[in-house]
Amino acid sequence: MKILTEPYKIKMVESIRLLSKEAREKALREAGYNTFLLMSQDVYIDLLTDSGTNAMSDSQWAWMMMGDEAYAGSRSYYHLLDAVQQVYGYPFMVPTHQGRGAEHILSKCLIKPGDFVPGNMYFTTTRLHQELEGGTFVDVSMDGAHDPRNESLFKGNVDMKKLENLTKKVSIDRIPYITIGAPVNMAGGQPVSMQNLRQVSEFCRKRRIRVVLDAARAVENAYFIQEREPGYASKSVREILREMCSWMDICTMSAKKDAFANIGGFLAMHDEGLYEEAKNFCVVYEGLHTYGGLAGRDLEALAQGIRESVERDDWVAHRISQVRYLWQNLKDMGIPLVHPCGGHAVFIDAKAFLSHLPQEQLPAQTLAAQIYADSGVRSMERGIVSAGRDLQSGEEHRPSLELVRLAIPRRVYTQTHLDYVAEGIEKTFRRREEIPGLRFVYEPKYLRFFQARFELQKKEVGATVE
Ligand code: F0G
Repeated sequence: MKILTEPYKIKMVESIRLLSKEAREKALREAGYNTFLLMSQDVYIDLLTDSGTNAMSDSQWAWMMMGDEAYAGSRSYYHLLDAVQQVYGYPFMVPTHQGRGAEHILSKCLIKPGDFVPGNMYFTTTRLHQELEGGTFVDVSMDGAHDPRNESLFKGNVDMKKLENLTKKVSIDRIPYITIGAPVNMAGGQPVSMQNLRQVSEFCRKRRIRVVLDAARAVENAYFIQEREPGYASKSVREILREMCSWMDICTMSAKKDAFANIGGFLAMHDEGLYEEAKNFCVVYEGLHTYGGLAGRDLEALAQGIRESVERDDWVAHRISQVRYLWQNLKDMGIPLVHPCGGHAVFIDAKAFLSHLPQEQLPAQTLAAQIYADSGVRSMERGIVSAGRDLQSGEEHRPSLELVRLAIPRRVYTQTHLDYVAEGIEKTFRRREEIPGLRFVYEPKYLRFFQARFELQKKEVGATVE
């Protein structure tokens, strides 16, 4: 298989270097075996995240020069508003510094202590903001989403039975909204079908439960619908995205993903009353509602990035073909992966890769550390460390998925970079049985995966047999 030919050429480059094995092992020890704590200059290929790490286009850079830095009523805000209205179809919008800023404002506006907030699998920051307002997250994703080997093409779908059961178990006025991640990051970038979005929307609107789209990677979801769902093959990604949003009352957006921006986000909605409330919280937590914690130049980069993300379908087609290329190469090497291949990243099944490590020895955290030690490639844990603890009881969440994510930044790496990544991981796979697990030595209270530190259970990570 080949990657689709790039629909761009390269105008600016940034140098990277591979440290020696000894230097990588030292960097890893100093980072407490947490890839979030490595210095980026010590990383060769950075697949930690596709968030804010994308290459901006010449048009985005040009628009940055046009940023209007007025405190109030910036022209750049109106450019962003216009892009959100045109592409996502919501009439009202407040900008935020990034996605979690939008989640914070939304949770403040709508959640009361004792409420329940269903969603198609948790996302770390989304759930925490719900819990901080006294809400309880309820997972209504289909069972298959928790099984790396389930081959469903729309594995991000909401299980309508689970949603219905929740509405029977608790009073409807205790369910302010449902969040739909499309695609679902924590399940492996798995998409949601239009049919499912429609069903959820019709079900919830009848019961006056609001439906919220987490649109961070919704352009990628639209591409999967175009490719896989009957009736959508001749529609453009732009048209499909608009239809997705038409079923959703509200949208939280981390513009650091699909919209190619290095920073930024927004909260958008159809309901003017909610907008008034959100606008008010925005000035408390983010900044005046016409800049939301962003510089005028960021608002312009974001507006242009939004337009660009759906201007031609080959942007997203190329992006997904890159992810599939890495997935296929790793699969051919026998590496256990989440099936089918998702949108923004390849997810390694760390439970199967390091089958000698029980979950207490943090297999995904261990594997992410070991991949860095072996090849200088940075990835991210998405397992028990990311899942964290229940805020009320202090009990650890124990997810059935124990994954390492290799996220591909947009327009940044080439086919040879991805070949290098696959070969490096194969090296790690060959000596998997001698890799020792990790244990916590420091655990912060909130979103522990970002800042936790670990030590080896026994042997040195990186000690080779060759
Ligand atoms: N929703 C989803 C689905 C996300 O993936 C993220 C961030 C957010 C919300 C929060 O947005 O970071 O702009 O505040 N995901 C990043 C990642 C961190 O690496 O997947 P944010």
